[in-house]
Amino acid sequence: MPQRPQPHQPHQPHRKTLTQFLIEERRRYPQASGGFNGLILNVAMACKEIARAVALGALGGLHGSADGAVNVQGETQQKLDVLSNAAFLRVNEWGGYLAGMASEEMEVPYQIPPQYPRGKYLLVFDPLDGSSNIDVNVSVGSIFSVLRAPEGADAVAEQDFLQPGTAQVAAGYAIYGPTTMLVLTVGNGVNGFTLDPNLGEFFLTHASLEVPADTHEFAINTSNSRFWEAPVRQYVSECVAGRSGPRGKDFNMRWIASMVAEAHRILMRGGVFMYPRDSKDPARAGRLRLLYEANPIAFLMEQAGGRASTGRQPLMSVQPGALHQRIGVIFGSRNEVERIERYHADPPGAELPNPLFNERSLFRVPA
Ligand code: AHG
Ligand code: MN
Ligand code: MN
Repeated sequence: MPQRPQPHQPHQPHRKTLTQFLIEERRRYPQASGGFNGLILNVAMACKEIARAVALGALGGLHGSADGAVNVQGETQQKLDVLSNAAFLRVNEWGGYLAGMASEEMEVPYQIPPQYPRGKYLLVFDPLDGSSNIDVNVSVGSIFSVLRAPEGADAVAEQDFLQPGTAQVAAGYAIYGPTTMLVLTVGNGVNGFTLDPNLGEFFLTHASLEVPADTHEFAINTSNSRFWEAPVRQYVSECVAGRSGPRGKDFNMRWIASMVAEAHRILMRGGVFMYPRDSKDPARAGRLRLLYEANPIAFLMEQAGGRASTGRQPLMSVQPGALHQRIGVIFGSRNEVERIERYHADPPGAELPNPLFNERSLFRVPA
């Protein structure tokens, strides 16, 4: 029998854009105004602009530190830190979706200029994470978190942003690596979108990401090991002991010094990341910032079936006390994070001196 002509087959499979994804998500909430989608698309626009500046590298004249500039953290600002912060503000301030913004690079909250309408959300961001890696061409990223603004007040105040991670409406990051990706949660799983640089569009390429519960990969800056607390020391020494230690399996270690890149690796293939509380600087509870680094990544991890903790409590349950507050951070594969939490709750005994070398041992080192 002769073959009937086939209906037209497109050459490319249909790929869902970020816009289509957001519109389809919104259909689940018939009362939604669409403002939230406008906000996420503006954030995506800022990320595209930053991706472009990062990709131009030395050609863009944007490598190196900004002249004498130091941010509220006391850290030298890179030119790209300053540019990325400005991009986030400019692209997001006009839309009418936001009541205010806060950033790693600004001491106090940013007020929406009076010529623009005010909205019902707050945007908190680290405009460029891992910026010490820019000049060596290693992946960097932007991290963001969306909160609800309290009703009524004309201006936003620091207090308005001091909400626990459980109050986040959405969170995500963009990673500027070999490809630029946007990874997003709106509280219904985690989805990854890859930027097509020719079309300037993000397309859904990694739907419903899930962090494997088990792993043999850990990430920690071991140059801080003398400052670690006993539970972290114990966990890492067991990983390092590998097959011959109590875990009975070999582990591998990674440290990129770009948390976005570490979080991305863990979302792709599992692992555990630690920048725990330590005794390096007693004035600080950790290295990473709670509101715009720890909480958004914690939301993504938990939405992908992983876990995020301070070691002592779920990260997202921490009530923030200050906009730029730092916190100990442990996240990734659920079973490993839970193990580290158990070590904090009930510190293991292996911190005791090895009996082979104790006071009465045959191997006692002479005084
Ligand atoms: P930022 O560039 O926004 O200041 O953040 C860098 C952070 C984080 O991305 C990374 O995990 C950590 O700093 C690296 O710290 P060390 O240099 O102590 O390893
Ligand atoms: Mn950062
Ligand atoms: Mn930063």
